[in-house]
Amino acid sequence: MVTETPAVRHDATASRRGLAAQPAGLSTLFFTELWERFSYYGMRALLTLFMVAAIADGGLGFTTAEAGRIYGNYTMAVYMLAIPGGFIADQVLGARRAVLIGGTMIALGHYALAWPAQMTFYIGLVLIALGTGLFKPNITALVGALYEKSDTRRDAGFSIFYMGINIGGFLAPIVTGFLAQSSIFKSWLESNGFDPTKSWHWGFAAAGVGMTIAMIIFLRRSRGLPDTRDTSLPLTTEGRRDVLRGGAMIVLGTLALFALAFLSDVDGWTWLRWLFLALPVAGIAYAVRQPGDDAQRLAAIGVLFIAAMIFWAVFEQAGTTIALFADQLTRGDIAGIAFPSAWFQSINPVFVILLTPMFAALWMRLRDRQPAPAIKFAVGLILLSASFLLMVPAATLAASGRVSPLWLVGLFLLQTMGELLISPVGLSTMTKLAPARTTGFVLGLWFLASAFGNKLAGVLGGGFTGSDPSAMAYGFLMQAGLVALAAALLFAAAPWVRKLSASAD
Ligand code: PHE
Repeated sequence: MVTETPAVRHDATASRRGLAAQPAGLSTLFFTELWERFSYYGMRALLTLFMVAAIADGGLGFTTAEAGRIYGNYTMAVYMLAIPGGFIADQVLGARRAVLIGGTMIALGHYALAWPAQMTFYIGLVLIALGTGLFKPNITALVGALYEKSDTRRDAGFSIFYMGINIGGFLAPIVTGFLAQSSIFKSWLESNGFDPTKSWHWGFAAAGVGMTIAMIIFLRRSRGLPDTRDTSLPLTTEGRRDVLRGGAMIVLGTLALFALAFLSDVDGWTWLRWLFLALPVAGIAYAVRQPGDDAQRLAAIGVLFIAAMIFWAVFEQAGTTIALFADQLTRGDIAGIAFPSAWFQSINPVFVILLTPMFAALWMRLRDRQPAPAIKFAVGLILLSASFLLMVPAATLAASGRVSPLWLVGLFLLQTMGELLISPVGLSTMTKLAPARTTGFVLGLWFLASAFGNKLAGVLGGGFTGSDPSAMAYGFLMQAGLVALAAALLFAAAPWVRKLSASAD
C-alpha cells in the first residue's frame, strides 16, 4: 500500500540520512533532473518578457495577448506530451533511452532559442516541448524503478528528487535573468563588440548549457540504472495489436486536445475553453454511473483533477501575469541595488526548499489524523485564493508607481504552501487511487491537469493590463473569488470523494 504523502512524509528521515542512504542511482537522477529543470525554468523566466519586449530592445514585440497565447499552448504541450512520451518509453524505447533522446532534443531546443531569429524561436519551442514529453515522465519513472515495491526509502527518495527540481528552479532565473536583463552584462557585451539587445539569447544559451550538463551527467552515470521496460516477455501478436491500438488512441487523443486548444484561441470559438472544465465533469458523471470500485475511484480522481487544474491555472501565471507584474510594476532593488525582474521566479523554489521539512514534520505529527486529500486540496485552493486577494491592494497601489517587492514575496509564500498541499499529495494520491495496471495512465492524467492549467494560465495572463491598475485589481479579485468558490465546492464534495475512494483504503 502506498502511504498518503510519500513525497513529504519521510522527509525528516531523508534529511538525516540524505542521498547516502539511497540507491546509488538516485544521485545521478537527482543531478540530471536538477539541470533539466534549470534549463526549463531558466528559459521560462525569460519567455514572456522576451516575447513582449520591443523589437528595438531585442524582443519579439508581441502583444501581451499574443504572448499569453503562445505561452499557454507551449507550456500545455510540454506537459501534455508526457502522455505519449510515457507510452513510447513503456512500449518501445525504455525510460533510459527516452531520457537520452528527450534530453538531447531539449538541449537542441534551447540552443535554437539562443539563435536570434523568429524561425528558430518556434523550432526551439517545439523541440523543448517534444523533448520534455519524453524526458519528464520517464526520469520520474526511473526514480520509481530504483525501489522494490516494499522499499520504505521510496518516499524519501522522491522527496529528495523534488528538492533537486527546486534547486534547479532556484538557480536558473538568477543566471538567465542576469545574462538577459542586467545592465552589468549588457555593458560587458557592448564593450566586447556584441550587440547588447541580444542579451536575451545569452540567457537562452545558458539554459542550453544547463541541459547539456544534465546530459553529460546522465550519459556518464546512467549505464547501470534499472530500466522500466519489461523486455523479458516477448510480445504476442495480440499483445502487439493492443500496443498499436493503445498508441493510436493516445496519438488521436493528443491531437484532438491540441486541436481543441488551438481552436479555442480563435475569435468566435473561445467558448470552447469551457470544455477544459466540461470534459472532466462529463468524465466524472460517466464514471460514477459505472459499476465497480475502479470506476468510483476514477471519479474521485476526476474531482481532484479539476481542483489541480484550477490550482495550476492560477499558480502557473507566475510565468505570465506575475512575471509582467514583477517586471513593470514592482520595485526591483535591494538596498538601492537593482536586480533583474526574472529573479522573482526564484522565490517559489526557495520556499519549497524551506517549507518541505516543515510540512513533513506536520504530516509526521498528524499521522493518521491527517485530513483527506480532498480537504488538503481545498485548503491549497484557499491559500491560492488568498495569494491573489493579496494582489488586489498591490495592483491598486501600482496606480501611483512601482510597489514593494514584498507583495510578491507574500504571494509566493501563500502559493508555495498551497503547492505543497497539492503537488506531492496529488502524486501519491494518484498512485494510491489508480486501478491496477493503470498507474502510468493515471500519472499521465495528473500531468494533463497541469497541461490544461498551464494553457489557462496563458489565457488569463494574456489579459494582463499593466497600464490599467483598476482593471488588473478587478482581474485578481475575480480570480480569487472563483478559486474560493472552487474551494468551497470541494469542501462540500469531500465526504463524497472520500466515499468514492473508500475501496483504496
Ligand atoms: N515544480 C514542478 C516541476 O517542475 C511543477 C510541476 C508539477 C510540473 C506537476 C508538472 C507537474 O516538476
